[in-house]
Amino acid sequence: MPFQVGTRILIEPGCREQLTGILAESGWKRPMLVTDAGLMQQAMVQELWDGLGIAGVDGVCFDEVECNPRTTTAERIAAIAVESQRDVILGLGGGSSIDAAKAAAMLATNGGLASDYVGRQVFPEDPLPLVAIPTTCGTGSEVTWVAVLTDFERKTKISLKGSAMFPDLALVDSGFLQSLPPSLLATTAIDALTHALEATTGSRRNPVSDALAEKAIVLLLDHLRLAFEPARDGAALEAVMQASTLAGLAFGNADVAAVHCLSESIGGIHDLPHGLCNAILLVPVLRAHGGTIAGRLSELDAMACGKPVGSAEHLLDRIESLIADLEIPGFTSLGIAPEDDPRLAEAAVQNGSNDSNPRPMREADYFSILQGLR
Ligand SMILES: [Fe+2]
Repeated sequence: MPFQVGTRILIEPGCREQLTGILAESGWKRPMLVTDAGLMQQAMVQELWDGLGIAGVDGVCFDEVECNPRTTTAERIAAIAVESQRDVILGLGGGSSIDAAKAAAMLATNGGLASDYVGRQVFPEDPLPLVAIPTTCGTGSEVTWVAVLTDFERKTKISLKGSAMFPDLALVDSGFLQSLPPSLLATTAIDALTHALEATTGSRRNPVSDALAEKAIVLLLDHLRLAFEPARDGAALEAVMQASTLAGLAFGNADVAAVHCLSESIGGIHDLPHGLCNAILLVPVLRAHGGTIAGRLSELDAMACGKPVGSAEHLLDRIESLIADLEIPGFTSLGIAPEDDPRLAEAAVQNGSNDSNPRPMREADYFSILQGLR
């Protein structure tokens, strides 16, 4: 099975400071920064943006990306990029900003609507160059070829994929995690753990993605609790940030599975945060897979504990207690009415990643997971 990455990756604290130099050496003179309003207020982001201005870079900024970015947002960004003749897009933020930037970079050169390009390799023209700068520790979008957008009118999520959609450069700087609110640090890091676990238990797993997922899982189990502490231990944050990118590389090739199928159907219909939905669904979905993945989970548990033999139940208990310690609320906090369950289950089956599950997942399987959460 092929393993593909098209992104130059810099991972080290402070690497954001290399942005101006990299733009200059790449010949990119007219960047468009794509982010959200909250991040634009942050000192670290403002400093980065001011640094570009001081260096004489002619930049424009779009800071209106929402949680669960809409197709219309990506289309607006693309229109501004074309109109103002941008030569590179900088996606800075969580998965929402990076995905919106990624889709906009493609739309800027191909025209039309996001809905014209659902699926793999649908667009003919190479996108604008893209630099991805994650400020959370979950998305992995900085190293994947996919952008997930919400079609707000149809209340569904769509995926645009293509080998030319890999960001050209990822600047993975754990310094951004110092100011990330604790709840976001927790939910995005569990999103990363979900990426790794789904990649390495699903039907598309391969030796390269397994190695990346294993490392990500061990880093998160060993360091996430300390990273979550108010002191924000720099080494722990760096470990969690690395894990997020490693998990992104893993699922970018081996795909995600049922946790994401269900969380994306919830996110599409109810506009709830992706990381939070995954954190709530992760253990219940893995438990529902039962014996299908027990062997693999036992191997991972042995690896994480440094013992010759592990147990699936021990690993799941450990993850469950980690999620509880990170103060992630329960399923009822999402406020989803029981009468929504059938359409959530139906949307989960239609998700493009449903075929990547370790066992066939039908509507009844998703429905019974949702019932078990009530
Ligand atoms: Fe995710």
